[in-house]
Amino acid sequence: MRKQIVAGNWKMNNDLAQTETLITELKKQIQTSKAEVMIAPVFTNLWPSFQALRKHDIEVIAQNMHFADSGAYTGEVGPGMLLSVGIKTVILGHSERRAYFNETDEILAKKVDAALKHGMRIIFCFGEELNDRKSGNHESVVENQIKNALFHLDGKAFENIVLAYEPVWAIGTGETASPEQAQEMHAFIRKTLSGNYSDAIANSVSILYGGSVKPSNAREIFSKPDVDGGLIGGASLEAKDFFAIVNAI
Ligand code: 13P
Repeated sequence: MRKQIVAGNWKMNNDLAQTETLITELKKQIQTSKAEVMIAPVFTNLWPSFQALRKHDIEVIAQNMHFADSGAYTGEVGPGMLLSVGIKTVILGHSERRAYFNETDEILAKKVDAALKHGMRIIFCFGEELNDRKSGNHESVVENQIKNALFHLDGKAFENIVLAYEPVWAIGTGETASPEQAQEMHAFIRKTLSGNYSDAIANSVSILYGGSVKPSNAREIFSKPDVDGGLIGGASLEAKDFFAIVNAI
């Protein structure tokens, strides 16, 4: 079912003490929200974060995972391992994973299958680079990213998939897609889903926007009809900013 979601992607930030401090602040500030609220700390802090938020309405999610259950994959973490520490949702396909760790659509399709096989929910990220936008290819780039990693799935799988449009040129740059650009792309994504599946599926999937969302621009972006919330990087590292963005829903 389509839900409003605000998820903080902490990326590779916050050691254990910093994680505990930020969670304590978040617990004080975020009591109730219209949105589902999530945070994604680094792997080593998933379990302490899960324990700290066990009785609270903030879900702890992972930033990545491997597609295999276990095996000779030094440095990797599998889906069952995440589940064993209470993590039921995973971010896949973030542009930093694609750019710095060579994650291709094929690898992502395998990760998607693995997460779904384990009954996990996925926040699937995609987005065009600046060159794609300048040359007017942004829609076809996004369409291919979605098709290649997700369109082998049956429609029911989308019950466990949240999409996150994150234009690469807007991530960590202070440059935000305008609310109109976000709306236009989100509507295009829904049209693509509808063409390949059905209107019902297209309208039931939550589509988040990510890329330099701040307290000052969140309300306008979230007010767009096809934007169901946000995936927040830098501003999720400050409790008061994250709280303000959660409240902008
Ligand atoms: P910023 O909010 O720092 O631009 O990062 C967005 C992002 O990559 C969230 O996954």
